[in-house]
Amino acid sequence: MSDEASRVEAFAPGRVNLIGDHTDHTGGLVLPMAVAGGVTVRGVRGGGRVLVRSEAFDEPADLPLVVDDPATVSPGWARLVAGVLAELRPDEGFEGRVSSTLPLGSGMSSSAAFCVAVALALGAPADDPVGLAELCQRAEQRALGVPCGIMDQLVSAAGREGRALLIHTGARTWREVALPDEVEVRVVDSGQPRTLAGSAYASVRDRCVRARELLGDLIGADPEAWRGIDDPSVATAARHVIGENHRVGAFADALGRGDVAGAGRLMVESHRSLAELGVSTPALDSLVDRLLAAPGVLGARLTGAGFGGWVVVLCTPGALDEGLRVEPSAGARVRRG
Ligand code: GLA
Repeated sequence: MSDEASRVEAFAPGRVNLIGDHTDHTGGLVLPMAVAGGVTVRGVRGGGRVLVRSEAFDEPADLPLVVDDPATVSPGWARLVAGVLAELRPDEGFEGRVSSTLPLGSGMSSSAAFCVAVALALGAPADDPVGLAELCQRAEQRALGVPCGIMDQLVSAAGREGRALLIHTGARTWREVALPDEVEVRVVDSGQPRTLAGSAYASVRDRCVRARELLGDLIGADPEAWRGIDDPSVATAARHVIGENHRVGAFADALGRGDVAGAGRLMVESHRSLAELGVSTPALDSLVDRLLAAPGVLGARLTGAGFGGWVVVLCTPGALDEGLRVEPSAGARVRRG
């Protein structure tokens, strides 16, 4: 186990989604960027067990290579490791440590970054970002029982320095989107922590999926098509997803033209639509309103699932001195030996 050649260090970034939330349940459009912060797993491959220690928890994840039901593993944080094991089925073990530079519960996708870093450390191929993301999505779904989409894992795996990614989540394809020099992206904490397991995430997903069953592809759909749906909660979901898919494309176009004010307005429309969908909270709404009143702030919205967490802000450089500045960063990487 001390063989230099079996040493491995894997890193996977978190993400901030600029626009396009609750669209990946129906294969829609999203526009996230990987950030500099993320999860690092360092250790040595070999042996017949997986032993991972975390700086954040006393009890380690200590698991056999074959795990049948990741959701029943303890301690709780080891479930994600177990989920990755169950999906990856590596033929050798691992012993190492995990550390994170992402604030937990921030909505910057710490759990997706965790799974991607663990999967790479355990030997998942690094040259197939779609396969890696799909494996980690299944792992997270099995481990936490949350029917998360593919956005977070895919941008963590495929991120590019200096670029956001416009991802078609159904086709698993993307194109890079540059941010104009006249803007910066910041994230500001609403003070309300969030976990998807304790939220209404699954029922929002079901409403979106039902809307797609009723209307077909929600990318490029008639913006008024939702009016034909009888169930008001499904109609609201359809209205959000159709509009949000459209806003993602319009946002990328606006940035491409250097229309940063237009891009900011689309973020605000996105937030209002997510609030109607029922995934915002009073803390998120009042933070967005307060930030929008600050000079130089072009747009602000909840980012990710909602139900708490952080707000993403588009502003002129230096306009805001709260929160954290985030820059589009490279995706996951692994170093061996
Ligand atoms: C979470 C999920 C993503 C996506 C967003 C909402 O971050 O992990 O797949 O559904 O919520 O856009």
